[in-house]
Formats: sequence, C-alpha cells, structure tokens
Amino acid sequence: MSEKRTSIHGQWANRTVFILAATGSAVGLGNIWKFPYITGENGGGTFVLVYLLCIALIGIPIMMAEITLGRRGKQSPINTMIALAKDEHRNPGWVWLGWMGVAAGFLILSYYSVIAGWAMSYIFRTGSGMFLGVTADGVNSIFTDLVSDPERLLAWHTIFMVMTMMIVARGVKQGLEKAVTYLMPLLFGLLVVVVIYAMTTGYFMQGVEFLFTPGTITREGVLTAMGHAFFTLSLGMGAIMVYGSYLSEEYSITQAAIWIAIADTVVALLAGLAIFPIVFANGLEPGAGPGLIFQTLPIAFGHMQGGTLVGVIFFTLLVFAAWTSAISLIEPAVAYLVENKGLSRIYASVWIGFLTWFVGLGTVFSFNIWKDKTMSIPYIFDNLTFFDTLDYLTANIMLPLGGLFIAIFAAWVMREQSTKEELATHPVIYKTWRFLVRFVTPLAVIIVFLNAVGAIKI
Ligand code: PHE
Repeated sequence: MSEKRTSIHGQWANRTVFILAATGSAVGLGNIWKFPYITGENGGGTFVLVYLLCIALIGIPIMMAEITLGRRGKQSPINTMIALAKDEHRNPGWVWLGWMGVAAGFLILSYYSVIAGWAMSYIFRTGSGMFLGVTADGVNSIFTDLVSDPERLLAWHTIFMVMTMMIVARGVKQGLEKAVTYLMPLLFGLLVVVVIYAMTTGYFMQGVEFLFTPGTITREGVLTAMGHAFFTLSLGMGAIMVYGSYLSEEYSITQAAIWIAIADTVVALLAGLAIFPIVFANGLEPGAGPGLIFQTLPIAFGHMQGGTLVGVIFFTLLVFAAWTSAISLIEPAVAYLVENKGLSRIYASVWIGFLTWFVGLGTVFSFNIWKDKTMSIPYIFDNLTFFDTLDYLTANIMLPLGGLFIAIFAAWVMREQSTKEELATHPVIYKTWRFLVRFVTPLAVIIVFLNAVGAIKI
C-alpha cells in the first residue's frame, strides 16, 4: 500500500527545502532567457496574458496533481506510474507517461545545456570589460561571434554538462538546499537592479505597454504560451513528480504549488521588465529570437554604475539557476536506472550525461554549420532548425501532452479518496482543484492543440 512506501533515494528535510528545490527547478533559463524572447516573437501583451492564464488555470492544478502522484508513488516517474496504476487496479500501460517524461527531460537538457553554456561564456565576456560603453551593434557582433563558433559552444556545453552530472551523481539533495536559499534571492535582487536601470532608459513605459497591453496573437502563439507555462513550471515530464516523491506525507501540496508558481512568474515578469525597455531604447527588434537577452542585458551592464560587477554576478547566478533546473531535468532518468538496473548514481549519471551531451551537438551546430538545415512536419511545423525542432517538440507537444495525461490520471483514473487523502486540503480547495483537473485543464489543453493545427478555430 502507498502508506508504507518510502523512497530509496531519501527525502527532503522539510517542506521549505522541497519548495526551494522545486523553485530551483522551475526558475531557470525558461524565465530569463526564453520568456522574453518568445514574448518578443509573439507580439507581447496578449501572449503574456495567455501565459498568465495558463499558469493559473492549467499550471497550478497540474503541479498539484504531479506532486500528488510523485508523493504517492515514491519512485522515479516510470515506476511511480506502474505502482499507482496497480494501486488503483488500472491498466499498467500508464507507464508510457513516465517514459515520455524521461524522453522529454533528456531532449530538453540536450539544448538547455548549450544555452547555459552561452550564459557561462557571458560571465567572462562581461568580466573582461568587453561591454563597457558598448553599442547595440557591438553587442550584436559579440553574440554572433560566439554562436558562429561551434568549438566554443561545444566547450561550454561540455563544461555545463559535466557540472550538472557531478551534482546529479552525488544525489540532488546535498548542496541544493543552501545554494537555493541564498542564490535565488540574490538573482531576484539583481533582476531588480536591471529593472531599475531599465527605468532610467526613458523607455520603461514602452516596455510595460508592450508586455501588458493586449494586441493580437496567432494560433501558434497561443500554443507557445501554453507550452511555456508547462516548461517554466517544469511540468509534464516528471521533474516535479520525482521531487514530489522525496516529499514526506505531512506537508501541504497546495501551498507549495502556489508558492512555486508565484515565485516563477514574478521572476519571468521581472526579466521582461528588465529587457524590453532596453530593446526599445536601443532600437532593437523584440522578435530577435534566442539571442535576445544576450543582445540586451550587456548594454545595461556596459552603461550602469558598477555594471561589470553586477553583470558578472548576474550571469553567474543565471548559470546557477540553469543548473538547478538541469539537475531536475535528468533526475527522473537517473532515479529510474538506479531503481531498475541497479546502477550506482555515479554510473547512471555518467551514461545519461554522455548521451545528452551527444544529442546536444545538434543544437551546437544549429547556430552555425547547420543553420540552414531545417525540418518540417506537415500540419505541425515548418522549417525549424534542429534546436527549434527539439524546443517545439518538447515544450509545445510533449510537456502539454504529459500534463494532460497527468491531469487525466489524477482526476479520472485515481479514486477520489486517494487524491483527497494525499492533498489533505480544505474541502473547497479540493473541490476546486478536482473540477479544474477533471474538466478545465484537459479541455483547455485539447482546445489549444486543435486550434494550433487548425482543426478548430477560436
Ligand atoms: N523550468 C525550467 C526553466 O524554466 C526548465 C525545465 C523544464 C526544468 C522542464 C525541468 C523540467 O528553465
């Protein structure tokens, strides 16, 4: 029975540690690198609104469901799905949900690490004083130089993967707690510093308007906003599930989920408020793509008082935030190998790390020698590079699909009594949650999917 299950990987010291670890997973490149550039590409206001709605109506309920599943199953997502399906006397086929999550985490990490490598190299670029008094053109050419050099990208990607696998090999609980307690608030503080700089550019209100005034959005844009809600909250692939499996019974899941979602959203909005005023003040393109933060933030660091130091610390913390997310991307796979194949954590980490690193080469080349090699899948996407394809498949398809089935499992497959017991929350909150995961969340995900492929029109 689930009551007697314990995790062989240990458990969090208390609820705060869990919230910190899960926030560490949620807050990462998704908030600071991805949110601004996809907001820019999708025209701002309406995109942000759809994203916020998805966080509230889809993200928080699914996060509660995912933690619930993890805590009840107490194993890697693959084995958790097997165990829970058995507890509820349901089809063992649900295990594929665990496998899809492992695959998504693996694919995401392969490109995540390359981008984290860019951030690492920017610690040194900022530190060398390269950005002092820099112009928009200057920053642009520094960025282009970096990404057009596969060797440099490969070196940083390798360093980041080694760093990540070293921590995963030791077990995620050591070190994560202290690091997240001090470094997350510091990152938050530095973002505020950049927002204050953005206020001095004279274009702050233009940035605010861009972010918060509704305009138009494409069908694709709606899917991207929803996909990003999953990505930024680390939902739909088992990261939050595996962290939930290390959570002991006495802590409230509802509160934890709400705190994590709020912290994550605030960081993303701050990043937007920091970046868009700089974009407009320097006549840059909001839709510049994945290089956006690397083409804007250095301008702030190159012109503010003490900017070199602020910049070095900022990029260091960004790498750190990426690192705490990367760990959670790969933890489900490592936990599975330890459980089923009897591998040591070290061995499992080295193997998975190597494979992820290898797939990452495709992303390294997407920005230079394979820049013009694109792929298409009829009705789904057209002409995407290797990196864009991975990003599309994972964030826009695999995570929402994973989330949809997590919601279906928690709301339709598990008995009401099981989830009630696990969530142990106020009856009104429980009823609201159940209504959301039973009806609102699955319908919303399905409608957004159908709308994106043009099968229905909203
Ligand atoms: N949430 C992380 C970020 O925003 C990325 C991530 C996605 C981590 C999925 C784990 C699982 O950067």
